[in-house]
Amino acid sequence: MSQRLKVAVLVSGSGSNLQALLDRFNSGDDESAEVVRVIASKPGIRALDRAEAAGVSTVVIGRPHETEEGAGPGLLEQLQDCDAGLVVLAGYLKLVPNDVVRAYAGRMINIHPALLPSFGGDGMYGKRVHAAVLASGARVSGVTVHFVDEEYDRGPIIAQWPVPVFEADTPDVLAARVLDVEHRLLPEVVSALARGDVSLDPDGNVRWTRPLFSSERFSAAGGSGERSVDGGAVRPPNHMD
Ligand code: GRF
Repeated sequence: MSQRLKVAVLVSGSGSNLQALLDRFNSGDDESAEVVRVIASKPGIRALDRAEAAGVSTVVIGRPHETEEGAGPGLLEQLQDCDAGLVVLAGYLKLVPNDVVRAYAGRMINIHPALLPSFGGDGMYGKRVHAAVLASGARVSGVTVHFVDEEYDRGPIIAQWPVPVFEADTPDVLAARVLDVEHRLLPEVVSALARGDVSLDPDGNVRWTRPLFSSERFSAAGGSGERSVDGGAVRPPNHMD
């Protein structure tokens, strides 16, 4: 098979999305990609333990006194050092410096726990996102995976998946339902990028040559078994076949 896409994952916290990638690509049966480096914005976070347990090299960049620009060269060097073909921001709380964004245009993605362009932007992370969704009265939230540009949560959208909001939800309850879908959608998008099924064209448009989910699967209510309701979340399929 052709060479595996080398993926660098940037993290700041628990790393459950990192784990979903490790499970799919490093110890799973999808050989289209491989996590080759985990870059953390701070030491002592669970994401680093997960990377080490999987035998993936780790580095911490960005001590508290560093400015965003100051962290730039180190990050770029790290990405080049591991020959990353794709950079995944998976709960990374720092703004990526512009020179790094430019160097990885179309090769850097972010996952956000709501349906962008709503409920995103500077300061919208963690429970704040889900609290804002609940306060708005929205009945649907979801997951967005998008290419990264110079602004938080603004780049071209690659894929989204809806998650229902229920009357009794707290931010924690909604977060857990959304996170469950994140763990399914993110590996699916990374695999699609690795296979070349989706890319960012020079005009900034997302181009799919093969859909992530067939329209039949996406729209059919029940039936196929690919859309199952579990804990209230409408789940994307684990694998495309
Ligand atoms: C996820 O909700 C992700 O969408 C957001 O930050 C959270 C990271 O969670 N960007 P984890 O560290 O992957 O568990």
